[in-house]
Amino acid sequence: MLSSHVRNGWYLGAWSDEIGRTLTRRWITDIPVCFYRLPDATVTAVEDRCPHRKYPLSLGHLDDDGTLQCDYHGYRFDAGGVCVGVAEQADLPKATLRRFPLVEKDGAIWIWPGDPELADASLLPDTSWLTDPDWTHVHGVVPLKARHLLLVENLLDLTHETFLHPTSIGNAAVAATPIDVTVDGDRVAFSRRMTGIEAPPFYEKSCGLTSPVDRWQDGEFYPPGIFILHIRVAATGTEEPEGFHMKVLYGMTPGLGNETHDFYALARDYLIDDEELTEFQHKQQLAVMQEDVDALEAQELMYATDPGGTVESSIRSDLAALRGRRALAKMLAHEQRGNVSA
Ligand code: FES
Ligand SMILES: [Fe+2]
Repeated sequence: MLSSHVRNGWYLGAWSDEIGRTLTRRWITDIPVCFYRLPDATVTAVEDRCPHRKYPLSLGHLDDDGTLQCDYHGYRFDAGGVCVGVAEQADLPKATLRRFPLVEKDGAIWIWPGDPELADASLLPDTSWLTDPDWTHVHGVVPLKARHLLLVENLLDLTHETFLHPTSIGNAAVAATPIDVTVDGDRVAFSRRMTGIEAPPFYEKSCGLTSPVDRWQDGEFYPPGIFILHIRVAATGTEEPEGFHMKVLYGMTPGLGNETHDFYALARDYLIDDEELTEFQHKQQLAVMQEDVDALEAQELMYATDPGGTVESSIRSDLAALRGRRALAKMLAHEQRGNVSA
């Protein structure tokens, strides 16, 4: 099946703490994937379709020795995904599960749903701050019933904070401050420097700052599915090293059709033992994400019911989002020319 999703790229498939010795199913770029851990704790992801009659393997079970059994007619697969037993007959059918390249690092499991030959771990961005003892973070995943591109564009155009998140992270300064955009290969980065501005409520509370403050937003999009935002906030005039640092990671992972897994991690490098602050920030992060989910799902309906594609109007602050859209379109066209499908 030719998917409308880019598959030759790393996507956040799961957080490490989500996957254990039970079978976990997640759709990724229209492919059903079954995640589990082997007895030595290495994580495995196989296509969640039994080669016999396509029953979901995630409805089967995992033996203590790491053998995966399909619970429809009993095909059994070893740790390498090779069929090693069928109840019906002594001779083995030729059947091997499709296994996906995975990288587990910094508490995240990255999956490459496309051509395994192209999977290159060096393409993954630095996420060491997720496990750096000088940082603390919260993470999770939020379901989104909207197409992946809408989430990409949402994050590449943070001007929307002014209008969609006015009680937490947005205020007039965001929309009023232009961004610088740089494109390096497929990677798109933007930068917004806000100086001498009123502190939005979230930063006032979580940094203990009063206005005026300086606020930096540096976003990086690693197509197809990774976005990292580097945030710094400081009392105006003090700049670094007095600034408060935060980072937000988004794993934007296409699911089935126009559904997307919205993975998030919010990290900070100050007051890292303050659990009350962690709880406050986590609540705020989820509240902000819910505002985005509501907006993107409303937008999804409008895109889905306008297949003719009425012409969109664009402004300067769309630049990073338009570059991101172009990078994804280029990757998809490249894959489809090469008939990369699954
Ligand atoms: S469908 Fe899995 S064994 Fe038949
Ligand atoms: Fe938002």
